[in-house]
Amino acid sequence: MKIVRSIPDLKAVRRTLRGSLGFVPTMGYLHEGHLSLVRRARAENDFTAVSIFVNPTQFLPHEDFKTYPRDERRDLDLLEKEGADLVFLPEVRDMYPAGHRTFIDVEGLSSVLEGARRPGHFRGVVTVVAKLFNLTQPTRAYFGQKDAQQVLVIKKMVADLDMDVEIIVCPTLREKNGLAMSSRNVYLTSEDRRHASILSQALLAVRELLLAGERNGDQLRHRMREIIETVPGVEIDYVSVADPETLVEVEQVTTTALASLAVRFGHIRLIDNIILD
Ligand code: PAJ
Repeated sequence: MKIVRSIPDLKAVRRTLRGSLGFVPTMGYLHEGHLSLVRRARAENDFTAVSIFVNPTQFLPHEDFKTYPRDERRDLDLLEKEGADLVFLPEVRDMYPAGHRTFIDVEGLSSVLEGARRPGHFRGVVTVVAKLFNLTQPTRAYFGQKDAQQVLVIKKMVADLDMDVEIIVCPTLREKNGLAMSSRNVYLTSEDRRHASILSQALLAVRELLLAGERNGDQLRHRMREIIETVPGVEIDYVSVADPETLVEVEQVTTTALASLAVRFGHIRLIDNIILD
């Protein structure tokens, strides 16, 4: 496994790889969810590259950029075991040297749901992913359904900017109690962790309700709220049942919809989603 830290080194290594390249961008502190993307990339490509970069431009000023969990040694061990060929660990000063002025904005899709609560977040995500695509030149790039809006925004950028990379979306990996795996889960107390199963329960309940014939968007959103509010101390940021392409809230579910939510446990904010079809 080649470990590369500088942009020139990355470009040099990339030139030696002939064949398809699967790429998994991450912010590190890897868990099974990340590793499932790496496994899929390995299965479908000649080479697999992973980036680990806590990207400052996607954090808002009050967010957890400084305290975001990091463990490079452990991440590298895990990637070595998974058989990754290349790991890129750039420095902030190399990705954003003084004078960096170019950002990519996917309009509309970036300003609802997560984007409405975290203005500027997707601008940072899309910009860093575009830079990472330019640097690694992947055949395919792997993203988790866990971050459903991120997937939509990146697919839109790839289509709008005629990028030659296939975006592959992989299912959300969960803990036994249904909690979606996330690097940020380490911040949860064991009590929060137990309570946090309410997120996936609310999403599954909405699916059941829909199967039972309830198609009204307001009713479905209301039910999610009711279920989450049974847990003391959680604060709902949003619940949504939206068109899975445009993210516009639906009045009636006709074919498919994306049910998603964001809640706070103290200062920890968790998101989850499910496709309803
Ligand atoms: P990060 O949160 O580290 O996630 C990296 C990738 O792993 C993303 O595609 C994410 O959706 C996926 N992932 C996270 N938890 C998952 C789970 N439980 N099951 C399946 N996949 C999961 O997302 C980012 O980093 C950044 O925004 C990034 C795209 C790297 C740009 O900085």
